[in-house]
Amino acid sequence: MDQLLKAQDVVSYIGPYTILHGVSLEVGHGEAVAILGRNGAGKTTFLKTVMGLVKTRSGILELDGKSVTGMEPHLIQRMGIGYVPEDYGIFDLLTVEENFRIAMWKEDKETLERRDYVLDLFPDLKLAYKRFARNLSGGQRQMLSIGRALVNDNKILLVDEPSKGLAPVIIESLAQALIEIRSHTTVLLVEQNFALACAVGQRFYIINEGRTVESGLMEDLVKDKELQALHLGI
Ligand SMILES: Nc1ncnc2c1ncn2[C@@H]1O[C@H](COP(=O)(O)OP(=O)(O)OP(=O)(O)O)[C@@H](O)[C@H]1O
Ligand SMILES: [Mg+2]
Repeated sequence: MDQLLKAQDVVSYIGPYTILHGVSLEVGHGEAVAILGRNGAGKTTFLKTVMGLVKTRSGILELDGKSVTGMEPHLIQRMGIGYVPEDYGIFDLLTVEENFRIAMWKEDKETLERRDYVLDLFPDLKLAYKRFARNLSGGQRQMLSIGRALVNDNKILLVDEPSKGLAPVIIESLAQALIEIRSHTTVLLVEQNFALACAVGQRFYIINEGRTVESGLMEDLVKDKELQALHLGI
């Protein structure tokens, strides 16, 4: 397979604590892959390690065949990774428009076209374009957070638990948006909401206690109740 993101035996640490003890996964160009695992398994830490926010002790991290291990976060981001963190990472005291403008690497024609695409994808954001981000609902904030990552010419989108704290009807519309997004963008989705992970992910990895313990096709995991019970508590 043509690999876009590759992690091999990644060990990473925060201060004196080793958090990841060996995460290996691969995401091919154009794929949508889900990372699953219980609370505290290391899913968020893995995404932060990819972004350079958590330090790698050993192992390989590559984007499009280029090592990103040890690089500064702002440079990793510019290699083409759109990161949607768990807590949105948007500016509450800026308007939706300003949040988009500050996220843009350039304000060229292509970027403005991508912004218009995002506003079509999330019509709520178009209606709230001049409003402060702090006045948006949780779902709208999640949309803005994803939208910010989509305005740039990214190779891959990393999304951390987008369903967290949102009502089922909003999660359903997020799923539809992510399915649309995956038709043109490679997606790596961390998600504990099994229905959302299944709807979006074509393949999966399960992380447990900082290690990759299982991987496969999502359609196989859906059928495998034993594996779900073992690692996901479903
Ligand atoms: N700053 C930190 N200092 C020490 N330990 C941390 C720190 N951040 C995370 N950890 C620990 O690392 C482990 C993995 O945390 P992480 O947030 O990556 O899990 P997660 O899989 O994203 O969980 P959740 O599903 O709850 O979001 C946990 O045991 C957590 O307590
Ligand atoms: Mg997390």
